[in-house]
Formats: sequence, structure tokens, C-alpha cells
Amino acid sequence: LMKIYPTQYNQIFILRCTRTQKESAGTNSMISYHQETKIFKLDTQTTTYMMGIADNKYLGHIYYGKKLEYQDLSYMLRTQEHPFVPSKLSREKLSFLDSFPMEYPFSGTGDFRESCIDIRDKNGQSGLELLYAGHRIYDGKDKLQGLPAVWGEGCQTLEIALEDVCAGIRVRLSYSVFEDCDALMRSVKVENIGTDAVYLERVLSACLEMDDEDFEIISLSGAWARERHIKRQPLLSGSFVTESVRGESSHQDHPFLAAVSQNCTQTCGDVYAMHFVYSGNFLAKAQRTQFGSLRMVLGIHPDRFCWKLGAGESFQAPEAVLVYSDAGLGKMSRTLHDLYRNHLIRSSYKDKERPVLINNWEATYFDFDTEKLIEIAKQSAALGIEMLVMDDGWFGHRENDDSSLGDWIVNEEKLPGGLKYLVDEVNKLGMKFGIWFEPEMISPDSKLYEERPDWALHLKGRAPSRAREQLVLDLSRPEVVDYIYDSISNILRSANIEYVKWDMNRALADIGSDALAPDQQGELSHRYMLAVYELQERLITEFPDLLLENCSSGGARFDPGMLYYSPQIWCSDDTDAIERLMIQEGTQLLYPMSTIGAHVSDCPNHAIGRVTPFETRGITALAGTFGYELDITKISEQERNMVPGQIAAYKKYAPLIREGDYYRIASYRENHKYDCYEIVSKDRSQAAVFFVQVMHEPSAKSRKVKLQGLSEHAVYEVDGRQYTGAALMYAGLLRERMYGDFQAEVIEVHQVSDRTE
Ligand code: DGJ
Repeated sequence: LMKIYPTQYNQIFILRCTRTQKESAGTNSMISYHQETKIFKLDTQTTTYMMGIADNKYLGHIYYGKKLEYQDLSYMLRTQEHPFVPSKLSREKLSFLDSFPMEYPFSGTGDFRESCIDIRDKNGQSGLELLYAGHRIYDGKDKLQGLPAVWGEGCQTLEIALEDVCAGIRVRLSYSVFEDCDALMRSVKVENIGTDAVYLERVLSACLEMDDEDFEIISLSGAWARERHIKRQPLLSGSFVTESVRGESSHQDHPFLAAVSQNCTQTCGDVYAMHFVYSGNFLAKAQRTQFGSLRMVLGIHPDRFCWKLGAGESFQAPEAVLVYSDAGLGKMSRTLHDLYRNHLIRSSYKDKERPVLINNWEATYFDFDTEKLIEIAKQSAALGIEMLVMDDGWFGHRENDDSSLGDWIVNEEKLPGGLKYLVDEVNKLGMKFGIWFEPEMISPDSKLYEERPDWALHLKGRAPSRAREQLVLDLSRPEVVDYIYDSISNILRSANIEYVKWDMNRALADIGSDALAPDQQGELSHRYMLAVYELQERLITEFPDLLLENCSSGGARFDPGMLYYSPQIWCSDDTDAIERLMIQEGTQLLYPMSTIGAHVSDCPNHAIGRVTPFETRGITALAGTFGYELDITKISEQERNMVPGQIAAYKKYAPLIREGDYYRIASYRENHKYDCYEIVSKDRSQAAVFFVQVMHEPSAKSRKVKLQGLSEHAVYEVDGRQYTGAALMYAGLLRERMYGDFQAEVIEVHQVSDRTE
């Protein structure tokens, strides 16, 4: 018996089975709707997420946490207490709107807390009241038009429609869960179902409402060469904001926010995390309300965002990933790592060993020619390095960073015989060849700028501000996107190029376009991001075997959005082994190690001048896609002799690093003495522990290191001695102090039998 529930705009939301009280997709459903109680329930492997409809129209957040059997938890919406629901006490509707745990909060009509959506209508007025209009549950997950998003099999999606008939706005909230993953994916699509254009002034992607639990907030922040340091702070009142308005996810902040219980460590406590699958401007905000509850929101930054939505048009906001962990930060990290490895990265390199590369940036900067590169390649090949990457400076007349961006023509004075000759020579040595581009930029000193100065982002009548003497191309213009694509693809077709480093070295400012109408200038930053995604999509579609590495002045665009296109991202321009401990710890908190670009560079370190042992630099670089960034023709004999051993270590640990589970054991950021993390194979039969003693302490006893993630009853061998998993995890290992600062070692753990008996 199917019943039709007519709503004015109903298309797909019309069928509701009246026989069963529960409605779900698939046989082993992870999503259900309980009609009697009007509750939606979504289950992942260990978590449950619940929403309910109150007063027949308001969608409220009920629960996110440890997995629960279905039960009517609608009392959590507190509709039986003052101010009740509007149908019971209409005189206090405003108080209701300002205290109800709204699943997707709207503003202008009475909820004074942080909202997720704002529009301006033809009267120039704002204000929405989004009410439940229907839902559907289906197997699979629809693509997000033009945007990176989690994908894959074994997935179900719940789509809930909210409508404001007066404003002519429908919002579709999507929630997807995967059988093999503990995260929840959310996205939002806004449709103009009215007859007039409206202006979207804010469309965030997710909100999470939580009761008063005195959470602390964890975020990642930093600066150039100091990206993604972990920060933790209480939130007693007011708001905590982490954001970017720089047109990129940025060095300074990261599109991530977590609320954690005060007892939260790596192994225990509650974590509620939100991570944004987007590479541009973002806002992540946690707000403590007057009732002590916490509202967390995440989405495209509303500053200078304004999207004109014509009648019948829709706007797709990017995806947010939500993770709840009942076992501390470690479980959150492993959930995100598995999600990104299995359901976000698409490159064929995802499960393959990456070639050990040598990049000439810190070796030569702009001062190189074919002869120099071939000499580097020869000596590298002899040591076992597998790919030469030619960085900045090979095109136009670029002898420094003052010119030529946009003129993607090989400089034959530097590279006589052209690119093909160089690449062939490198290939003859048995090495692959990779190349650097900075496609989104234009130098005022370039042929392109001479011809098309209007292609640079600029505000009318104002000279745009330069950064590193460069301007940003207006990617909202399709002809600019085509020009960039043709420039890159022509180069890639001209020789056997197997790797591209896609760089982006300045923030966006002077955000204006000659090609957009005055009332669409607020769309530019998001249109820019969509164009970057379109360009990278075209690139990997035409060159499916290309290994693409994203980069942005180091790690200013290290975000989940980029991982959809490139399996690895350059982590930071700071290659100092000790600085990298903190940068990589913050990056590992969210990202699998196989995505983290990490290289051994020369000393004194070019970014900070520190001298560390070559061996320690090698061990630190193992925490990612291993490579070198130094002049191999100039390093000492002793260091050169260590290279083959480092490459062998990388090859040995690469499968573990690519596929294993990550456990953080100690943090140099916290203890100021040493750093330690462990990778355990999924079957728990082997592990590698990466230990860096940053400060040598005289007169100190050996250090106890407690491992994690092993099988309690299995027997493991470490340094020729046998231990049970339980002994290694609960009693720990003892490590001799190493002599001197900045010493490092890798401890290998192998299972020798299943059980103690
Ligand atoms: C910034 C990158 O992070 C560096 O690795 C290098 O490619 C330079 N740009 C080149 O200009």
C-alpha cells in the first residue's frame, strides 16, 4: 500500500509505505526511518547518528555517539519542556527556534545562534524557516557535481528535503554511510523552487549540536613552513573559529574541527570531528550557547560569498566528513585514514609503491640546465633513485621568481634540445621524469600578461596586489581554463612525463572578474575552486597513469579535496627533520602517510638552518612519499653511501606505511624531548616503530615505549628477543638512550606465533 503525500514541490519524496513502521534501503540497512516516532537512524560500524522531526516540521539533531539499538530518543529534542513546540505555545516560537537543536540551522526568523544558510530575496530581505518536506533512502551515493567527494561501493544515502515555501527554497541534506567505514558524509544542495532569483549568502555543509559536556576544541594551524600544528583549548563561552579567506585551505588554518572530552587522549575519550572535502575558503566554528550546549558548523566561508540562484537553479555545497570516536584521537585518525585511502583517493598509485624521486628545487633553485640535471640524474640512478623531478624555472625566461608564469614554453637556452631530449636521456638512465607547473598564475612579466592583462583577477580601477611578483588567473573564464589546460597537456604530450607537481604560490586577493556580472562577483572564489577541480579532472582523465602531486608553497592546499585528484601532496617547504615532526604529526592526525610528501634535504636546512644527521632526515622522510631534495652531486661521500640503505628501508616499509594502521605513541610537540609513532599491519603480524630522540638527556635511564595495536596473545620478536603483544603494549619496550641530539631509529616488530601457548 503506497500513499502519496502531496507537497507543493514533491517529485521523488512522494512514496511512503504505510504498512511497515520502519523504512530502510537494502536488506542490511544502515539507514532507517521510524515512522511512528519520526526518527531517522544512521549506523556505521561503531556509531549511531539520529535525527527527529518535531512538531511535524522541524528537523532536530538527537544523537551522535556510540552505536545504539533503535529506541525512541525523541525526548532528547526537549519538546516537552518550555518553550515547547510552536503548535503548543506559539507565543514563544522565537525561544523555541533559538534553543531547538536544529539539524540544519537557518537564520533571520528567531535562531540567533550560528546558522548554516542565509539568503537575500528579491525584496532585499533575509530570513528562512526550513521545514521537513520528505525524504528518500537509497543504495549508493550520488556524485557531487564538479566537486571532490567520497565514493565507492557498500554505501547507503539518506536525503532529507527541507522547504521554505515562502522563500521558494528547498534544501536537500544528504547523509551517506559505508559498510566498511566508521565515518558519516554530509552534503547540502540548495534549489530555487520559486519564481525569482535569490542570493545565497551562506551555505554551510554541516552542523552538529551537542549538549553541555565541557568539550575542548582541537584544530590545526600554523604558517608557511609551519603547517598543521595541533592546537587544543577549552571553550568556556563564545565561539572558536578556524577559517580561511585566502582562496585556499591555507598554511594558517585547516578545514578541520574537533570537539573532544577533557579526558581525551590518543587512546581514550570522545572525539567529534568534522573535516571538509574542499580546498578553498572555509569556516569552521564551534559556538557555546547560552544553555551551555555546543553548536559546530563547517562549510564554505560566507565572507564575500554570494551566489545568485535563478529560478529552477541549484547550488551544490561541498561534502563534510564527520567522525565520532569513543576511543580517543587514534581511532579518529585511523577512521579518516581508511576512509581517504579506500573512498577518496582515486589515482592508480593509491595502492602502488611511489617512485623514489629527486627534486632539483633545493638542489639548484633556478640555476640549472640540461647538463646539470643529467648529472644529477646519473648520480641518482646509480644510487637507486627512480625519478627526476624538474622543478620551477624551465619555461619562458624564468631565471628567478619574477617572470614567465603563464608562458608554458620550454626555455631552450637552459634546456638545449628541448624537453624531449632531456626526458629521453633521463629515461635512458632507467629513471622516470616529472615536471613542475604553477598553472593558476600569471607573471606581469610574461607574454600572456602583455596580451591578456584582463585575465588576471583584479578589482575594477585598482592595480591588483602582487605576491612573489605574481598575479592569479581568473579561472571563472572558460577561455582561461582552456588556455591553461592546453598549455599543460601540450607539454605532457611532448615527452614521456610521468609525474606532475601542481604548485600554487600565493593567496587570492583582488577577487574581481571582468567576465562576471556585478551581482555575481561573490561567486568568484568558489567558481575558481570549481575550475581548479575541473582542470585536474581533465588532466587525470587524459593522463590516467600520471602521478599528480599537489603543492601550494609547501602545504597550503593539503586538504581532502585535493586528494580526490592527487594521491600525494607536498607537506611543507620546511624539510628540517625536527620541524617536520610537528608538521607531520598534525598531518598524520587526519591523513594517511602515503599522502604526505616528505624528502631528505641538505643541511644546514634551507628553511631554518638546523643541522641534523643524514640518517635522521631519512627516517623522518619515511613518514610519507619518500624522496630527495638536494644536490646529490655535492653531498659528502658518507651521505651518498647511506642513500641506497635509505631507499631499501623505504621499499621495505612502503607497504606497511601505505596500508597499515597508524598509532601515535609520543609527541615531541607535547613532551619537547622525543617523538614516536607506530604503523601496524592490518593483520597485526608486523609493526614498525619510528622513534626520534630530539633532545639527548645526560644521566637518564633507558626510555620506556609502550606499543599499541598488537594482538595481546601473539608473540612478537623485537631485536632478537620475544615478547607477548600484551607485554609490548602494557609493560612496553626499553630503548637505550642514543648519544647526541636528533638521533633516530626504526624498531621492527614481527609476529613469530599466534598464541603464547
Ligand atoms: C613552492 C614549493 O613548495 C617548492 O617546493 C617549489 O616547488 C617552489 N614553490 C618553486 O617555486
